Amino acid sequence: MNETNKQITNLLLQLYGMDVSKYDDLFLNKSIQKRITDTRCGSYNEYYTNLEQNIEEAKFFIESLQISHSEFFRNSLTFSVLERILLPSIALQKKCSAQKEIRIWSAACAAGQEAYSLAMLLEEHKNSDYEKFSYRILATDYSEKQVNQAQKGEYPLGALYNLNIKRIKHWLIRNGDTYTIIPTLKENINFSVFDLFGEQLCCPPASIFGDFNLIVCANLLFYYKPEYRKQILKKIANSLAKEGLIIVGEAERDILMNENWYEIFPQSGIFKGIEHR
Ligand SMILES: C[S@@+](CC[C@H](N)C(=O)[O-])C[C@H]1O[C@@H](n2cnc3c(N)ncnc32)[C@H](O)[C@@H]1O
Repeated sequence: MNETNKQITNLLLQLYGMDVSKYDDLFLNKSIQKRITDTRCGSYNEYYTNLEQNIEEAKFFIESLQISHSEFFRNSLTFSVLERILLPSIALQKKCSAQKEIRIWSAACAAGQEAYSLAMLLEEHKNSDYEKFSYRILATDYSEKQVNQAQKGEYPLGALYNLNIKRIKHWLIRNGDTYTIIPTLKENINFSVFDLFGEQLCCPPASIFGDFNLIVCANLLFYYKPEYRKQILKKIANSLAKEGLIIVGEAERDILMNENWYEIFPQSGIFKGIEHR
């Protein structure tokens, strides 16, 4: 850790009890530089003094680390592979197996876009399939604010840019400037607060036993230091069903490759344990 990061990390912990030691060094450094610019401090020393004297700035800084940007159908390649190949194949396998339900965990769901995108694909496939299947999506985030927003499923038009008109008309209801996910799409999704660093549980209590066919843990690993990325990966891997898949963000593929996971379609961010290769 560089000196700047060390000083700010110690200050936040000692003065305010706020722990930022898990965050990746480069990310922490960029966030500090951004706050220096946004607060119009002339130098790092000036910002340090500001942080020392002002708990409000400490709260702003912590908030700036909690990136919650998400999109419907984020990473189009991942969702195409899911739609055309993987979900139909999992649905088919389920029909012949004892455990009939497709189980999915969206492990950092932000305001719900990821979970609703998956539900749209599953519902659309279900409607085109003469033999129906069942599914359950557990969607969690450590931010209560994000989980509440996800449960509401309300979005401005600007958040729907990856959805085609057909999907907007079918899955959302317009009310003035707000578009709300229809109740049918919410039926098989369970939203709850869950911290991936929590020590007591390996998966959300609502899932009871884990055993997920698919875990989406996208666009959060790269915010943490390598040892904490490993900790999260270990935790979610323990909740996978046999031959289950993990999906990460485009910029996180190297992290899994370096941990001996095998990307089943090039560039897709969809991984299997190397033992199932
Ligand atoms: C950038 S968003 C990504 C959302 C979505 N997965 C996507 O790819 O669009 C990262 C999310 O991870 C959540 N998060 C960060 N650390 C977490 C942790 N330790 N446990 C659970 N959620 C966490 C944040 O609250 C935020 O909503």
